[in-house]
Amino acid sequence: MTADDQKRISGEAAAQLVEAGMVVGLGTGSTAAWFVKALAARGLDIRGVPTSEATANLARELGMTLASLDDVKSIDLTVDGADEIGPGLSLIKGGGAALLREKLVWEASARCVVIADAAKHVKTLGRFPLPIEVVRFGHPHTGRRLADIAAEFDLPPPRLRTADRGVVVTDGGNVIYDMASGVIEDPAALAGALKSVTGVVDHGLFLDLADEALIGTDDGVVKLVP
Ligand code: 5RP
Repeated sequence: MTADDQKRISGEAAAQLVEAGMVVGLGTGSTAAWFVKALAARGLDIRGVPTSEATANLARELGMTLASLDDVKSIDLTVDGADEIGPGLSLIKGGGAALLREKLVWEASARCVVIADAAKHVKTLGRFPLPIEVVRFGHPHTGRRLADIAAEFDLPPPRLRTADRGVVVTDGGNVIYDMASGVIEDPAALAGALKSVTGVVDHGLFLDLADEALIGTDDGVVKLVP
């Protein structure tokens, strides 16, 4: 089975968790897109709260009814992908630059389900560079403060994310610094240190947020709990 097939079966399994009448958080990325497609195919009367403009566009194309986070009191279930799933369902997210809206939607949700292909399940977080969302104003200064924090954790300085068109700007108008590490020994300590920096809006460590994971494997979908 290819990684994309594994993503597809995890997204399809998650779509089965949705019931009519629910408010559903719609994650971002290729795995979440499989979930959105499978959910739309069920034709249920639900409202989707998208975590990015890209997901909103996809959901609209599929005819889904959307609501903004501002318009709902709570979200029944959010389904989203991840870049890494580590011990206790600790996660690295933000590879698709949507981490801030994703975390806001996750934190407003009664239940959060992470979906992924098998390669995302790791023994320790850190192989995937940790995305950190930073306000644009003065970001080179914030970047230097992040480099100081990285040094305290024996990590190399984070790098400003760029793409073909230049510096990547998030849906919220911020930039992303990626902190490559290899191994994050103490995710909670790193999360706390990053949040203490003025200019850091948030980071891609999602700790104690996922209620379950549905991992697509060659043997089918495996459910994990923290
Ligand atoms: C976007 C995310 C994505 O969920 C994460 O990057 C996984 O993406 P994919 O499902 O395409 O592998 O956090 O900000």
